[in-house]
Amino acid sequence: MINHRRIVRALIFSILLPSLVLLGNTSFAQDGKALFQTNCASCHSPFKDITGPALKGVTSRVTDTKLLHEWIHNNQKVLATGNKYFNDLFVKFNKTPMNTFPGLSDGEIDAILKYVETATPPGGGGQTTAVDGKSPESQNQESDNTLLYGILSLILAVIMFVLLQVNSSLKKLSDDKEGIPSSEPVPFWRNKVYISFGILVVFLLFGYCVVQGAIGLGRQQGYQPEQPIFYSHKVHAGINQVSCLYCHSNALDSKHATVPPLNVCMNCHAAINDYTHGPKLYREDGSEVDGTAEINKLYSYTGYDPKTSR
Ligand code: HEC
Ligand code: HEC
Ligand code: HEC
Repeated sequence: MINHRRIVRALIFSILLPSLVLLGNTSFAQDGKALFQTNCASCHSPFKDITGPALKGVTSRVTDTKLLHEWIHNNQKVLATGNKYFNDLFVKFNKTPMNTFPGLSDGEIDAILKYVETATPPGGGGQTTAVDGKSPESQNQESDNTLLYGILSLILAVIMFVLLQVNSSLKKLSDDKEGIPSSEPVPFWRNKVYISFGILVVFLLFGYCVVQGAIGLGRQQGYQPEQPIFYSHKVHAGINQVSCLYCHSNALDSKHATVPPLNVCMNCHAAINDYTHGPKLYREDGSEVDGTAEINKLYSYTGYDPKTSR
């Protein structure tokens, strides 16, 4: 008798193994993105010049992969060799030094480069200027692939399910023919294998959603809006030792520390109407701050008149 079970097992293996390999590939591409975000995104964007140049297309600007790796490992060393391309770039970017990354492996750098070359700008790839020799399609590949793998896995799961059903029917048929009394086949909704498989799928999906949700929980890095009043923590919490909780009253029991309302400021500034005692203060661009004028802004925002104290 042909052993159907063995055939089915072999089939399942030959289906599952490739799909696992495919999944492994996507996570590799995502590693590049994560590495880029943690190490490079503070100065680089794939699409526009910020502190450093836009990185998309860099592998065609610098075709010598070894040199490119050396640059990312230790740009100071490459600059010291007098390489013209990089020294010109250094001057163009106002001699801003790039960090060195001796800890990144070649594989990690390749993953980062692969990510910046395939990244698509947020809000539609319409404005992408196609980089030499690469069609826009190949640049969009990364995002398309995720969906493709999803659909593929689903199809494979359905095939597996059908094959298992076929297997049990065949087994029953051959048993009947040979006169072996067989127990009634268990319907699939009571079959332990299917149930545990279903639980596993639900568990994985649930875990994925939880992780994605946690990542999306409004955490931001480098958020620094321009404030209307030049308020200095150094003057308040530092020199004048005002307790953090006086202003950030929710800090101990809420996810948000909260920024104080103006009337909290006025508790003190109804009396303190000029800035005379503290050290000189400077904005980020180097200009000096007139503390008294800043306190007067507080009065105009609250509609308070220091002459009449109302
Ligand atoms: C502190 C800011 C900073 C960080 C962080 C940084 N870079 Fe740079 N990068 C620069 C600047 C600035 C330049 C332009 C050359 C110069 O001034 O040294 C540059 C140039 C480059 C170039 C050459 C670009 C071209 O158009 O030829 C590459 C490639 C590069 N960086 C890759 C990386 C990678 C990969 C990372 C992360 C692992 C990274 N950089 C992190 C600032 C940074
Ligand atoms: C006199 C009131 C006051 C005191 C005291 C004070 N802060 Fe603030 N804090 C503010 C105001 C106003 C802002 C928003 C303006 C800004 O960012 O400068 C702010 C912003 C912040 C932010 C940024 C919040 C964000 O969402 O980005 C942090 C962090 C912070 N304060 C921490 C502290 C700590 C720690 C202390 C105690 C050492 C402290 N503050 C004391 C008024 C105060
Ligand atoms: C607990 C009392 C207190 C509170 C509350 C307070 N301040 Fe002040 N503030 C001071 C003192 C003290 C000075 C320093 C005066 C000096 O040195 O002459 C000062 C100075 C200032 C200055 C001038 C120096 C600078 O930082 O630019 C500004 C502007 C200012 N406060 C804004 C605010 C704002 C906005 C708030 C509310 C978020 C606030 N203050 C809340 C006590 C307070």
